[in-house]
Amino acid sequence: MLHLRDQIAEAAAFVRTRWNGRPRCGIILGSGLGSVGEAIELDAAIDYGDIPHFLKSTAIGHHGRLLCGKLGGVPVVAMQGRFHCYEGYSAERATFPVRVMHALGIKLLIVSNAAGGLNTNFACGDIMVIDDHINLLNRNPLVGVNDDELGPRFPDLGAPYDRRLGDRALAIARKHDFVCHRGVYAAMLGPTYETRAEIRMLRYFCADAVGMSTVPEVLVAVHAGLRVLGLSTITNICSPDKKVTTSGHEVIATAEMARDKLLAIVAGIISEEFQNR
Ligand code: HPA
Repeated sequence: MLHLRDQIAEAAAFVRTRWNGRPRCGIILGSGLGSVGEAIELDAAIDYGDIPHFLKSTAIGHHGRLLCGKLGGVPVVAMQGRFHCYEGYSAERATFPVRVMHALGIKLLIVSNAAGGLNTNFACGDIMVIDDHINLLNRNPLVGVNDDELGPRFPDLGAPYDRRLGDRALAIARKHDFVCHRGVYAAMLGPTYETRAEIRMLRYFCADAVGMSTVPEVLVAVHAGLRVLGLSTITNICSPDKKVTTSGHEVIATAEMARDKLLAIVAGIISEEFQNR
């Protein structure tokens, strides 16, 4: 079995055989948000199954392709679908693509997800800029022997999400006239949605949205020294008081309806950060 660092190098070298671009930004497109990838002027779309050491994406609403190309003229690499711990993957394996995107040269990671709204001010279809997170997965991709070449043993998590990028995302939403909040994302393992007692607990913890992803990827991004912008699409409202059923298909349908908002922020941030630089 190859060392993690060698696996990363092998996967990155494979991507380079299909695409010789130098991506500035990596994007992870969450549930129902894969169509944001259509805005990328594609040079290559690589099936995860073709990339050495990548896993298979089994989740609904996740295509399982690495999109390589330009967004607004800026070279980017985007994951059309991600890996979750609830699929049975370890946090280290699930976050391997973040390592590969870092090896390809990205400096910024934009990570998106579909999430349930806990904050009573939130409505379906709203966007939330992730200000901070609570890791309730009971997993951390950095557990194990640390490779100091990849990052520090004890990464600081005082500010995993870039405050200035969050401010800019909120400003872009205001300019486009849609609702965008800032709040705390809680990650639960899933694949079950939360019980009413868990929803009550998450509100008590001051979480604003809940999902089953993102946190492992952000931990690896911070370990690798990447700047991070996190965006949640609120696809359902979690209520402890009335019985509301949530289904994966509804989550995806609502996320798809909000894709233009997400695209406006992603494209706006990339243009402000990288165009003419
Ligand atoms: N809970 C957990 N994950 C989710 C939810 C939810 O309510 N909605 C979308 N992803």
